[in-house]
Amino acid sequence: MPLMSELLTFEGIKSSPEIQTYLEFTDKAFAIMGYKEHGQGHAMRSADTAENILKSLDCGAREQELAKIAAYLHDIGNMVSIRSHDQSGAVIFLNVIDENLYDDEIFAVATAIGGHEDKNMDPVSPIAAALVLGDKTDVRRERIRTKDMFLIDKHSLVIAACRKAEVIVNKEKSIIKLKIDIDASICSVMDYFEIFMSRTIYCKRAANVLKCDLELYINEDKFL
Ligand SMILES: [Fe+2]
Ligand SMILES: [Fe+2]
Repeated sequence: MPLMSELLTFEGIKSSPEIQTYLEFTDKAFAIMGYKEHGQGHAMRSADTAENILKSLDCGAREQELAKIAAYLHDIGNMVSIRSHDQSGAVIFLNVIDENLYDDEIFAVATAIGGHEDKNMDPVSPIAAALVLGDKTDVRRERIRTKDMFLIDKHSLVIAACRKAEVIVNKEKSIIKLKIDIDASICSVMDYFEIFMSRTIYCKRAANVLKCDLELYINEDKFL
């Protein structure tokens, strides 16, 4: 049953059985493929980070909530396929909203979801930028399902090496700081950049949309 626009609140989205089913199936599909966790954990972490960034920058409460919603939903398109999951995710979101109630807020969320993998473009709004930062900074090693380090691909290996990732906003200096703690016995800093260079540049683009610079620290060393 479609959600009505008055239910476009984070709690309304989170309590929708339809959306919970999509998230559950997304994560099931990723588990079968042996990919990292893409369910409730990644959705919540992305949502909280997106909301906190906009809150720290004194953006409006509604903008914070829309960013939280978009970030929570951003990967539901993976239920259909990992290919073009950004665009299918946006369409899935539109499908759970009564189309008579489409408005600027609905489109702001749909556009943010639909563009979240466009690494060569600037995010189109603060909501989209907060989503990108929430998503792309979620490099927790707990998301890796395969315990045997020899069996996982290099992307997963880099994430398995990330002991901690923190996003710290300094509004006065207009800086968004990403602090990552890497276990160098699992991967090197060079490995991190080899795998995550485009992601890092995308986070910088997103920070710039929020009129901030991105600083990146790995094991206390400043790289950006
Ligand atoms: Fe994604
Ligand atoms: Fe994601």
